Amino acid sequence: MENIIDVKNLAKVFGNQTALEDVNFNVKKGETFGFLGPSGSGKTTTIKILTGQLQQTTGEAAVFGLKGAGLTNGTYRRKIGVLTDNSGLYQRLSVEDNLKLYCDLYDVPRKRIDEVLALVNLSDEGKKIVSKLSKGMLQRVLLARTLLHEPELLFLDEPTSALDPVNSKQIHEGLRRLNEKGTTIFLTTHDMSEAETLCDRVAFLHKGKIQLLDEPQALRRQFADGSVTIELKDGRTIKVPGGSEGADTVYSYMSTDQVVSIHSNEPTLGDIFVEITGRELI
Ligand SMILES: Nc1ncnc2c1ncn2[C@@H]1O[C@H](COP(=O)(O)OP(=O)(O)OP(=O)(O)O)[C@@H](O)[C@H]1O
Ligand SMILES: [Mg+2]
Repeated sequence: MENIIDVKNLAKVFGNQTALEDVNFNVKKGETFGFLGPSGSGKTTTIKILTGQLQQTTGEAAVFGLKGAGLTNGTYRRKIGVLTDNSGLYQRLSVEDNLKLYCDLYDVPRKRIDEVLALVNLSDEGKKIVSKLSKGMLQRVLLARTLLHEPELLFLDEPTSALDPVNSKQIHEGLRRLNEKGTTIFLTTHDMSEAETLCDRVAFLHKGKIQLLDEPQALRRQFADGSVTIELKDGRTIKVPGGSEGADTVYSYMSTDQVVSIHSNEPTLGDIFVEITGRELI
């Protein structure tokens, strides 16, 4: 499959601090790729490099085959959508008027505004003044603006960090629909269930390098210890190790008709994250 993003030996040093040391990955066309890592691990820095807002110290970052100055040109800008927290909205204008300005800038027909507002669940808020929006509404307006020109590739830096579960779910559904229509998505998040539901593959960034990269399901299998948890009719719940010893235990409970349920103990992405980075999510 065609690579849309190609990153090789990427490093970024700020003064005497190394943010990225040796980062390697690629993102394929049509993929939703999750870029995970603790706070300060360099996720936003990577997005800034890939979107031409920052230059790497060494290594290569290519998107659509473009590098360096190619990542700042207009053709590239039209192909990508970038959602970060630096708003750039006109505070005293309404949501709709802000989006109209963007339509004009990108040569997008204004009827597209209704479509993107519906996608982020803001159809009734178009007349609201931006400075009066809640944090979650503002995040959704920014996402709407990102989607306005129907980019082929989306960079979403924590797209649901300020949203309640209902709005997050709606955004997830919207992103899934976009992805089904062919949009490639590069996403950072601290929400491991978001990564698990949306991403085809995830990378764990830590200490300047990608520590792990695979499909969520493959990672869960890789980190599973083979143990199972059995719920017994007498109310007890017991964890049984994998292997033949565990199988004998399971058999003895089953043959005496004591079992209510058996679940395999696959780790979640959150468990794997903690194991890799040695710390809780922030
Ligand atoms: N312009 C800058 N000048 C100096 N240091 C910077 C700059 N931008 C980022 N850094 C440093 O680079 C490191 C990576 O920051 P970055 O914002 O990429 O992390 P992140 O993974 O996005 O974190 P978070 O999850 O908190 O958003 C941090 O130590 C940060 O302080
Ligand atoms: Mg960040």
